[in-house]
Amino acid sequence: MSEKSPVLIDVIAGTTYSWCSCGLAETMPICDGTHKQKSDKRSVKFTPEANGQVWLCMCTKTQNPPYCDGSHSHEN
Ligand code: FES
Repeated sequence: MSEKSPVLIDVIAGTTYSWCSCGLAETMPICDGTHKQKSDKRSVKFTPEANGQVWLCMCTKTQNPPYCDGSHSHEN
């Protein structure tokens, strides 16, 4: 199992968030712009339709970004 397990965060409907796809942000799982200097990856924006909580991927291996899809469990 990955050391980078998903994190549950509170989201607000209509607010746009940027998920870090490079895994280098100090503010993981939210992008802090680090990819601009250290990666060719880009953040993934998402806007929840309802207030609530979502499991965001921390391992960057998900096939359903920004949400955890269980891929972290399959890493070596
Ligand atoms: S943390 Fe679960 S797929 Fe990345």
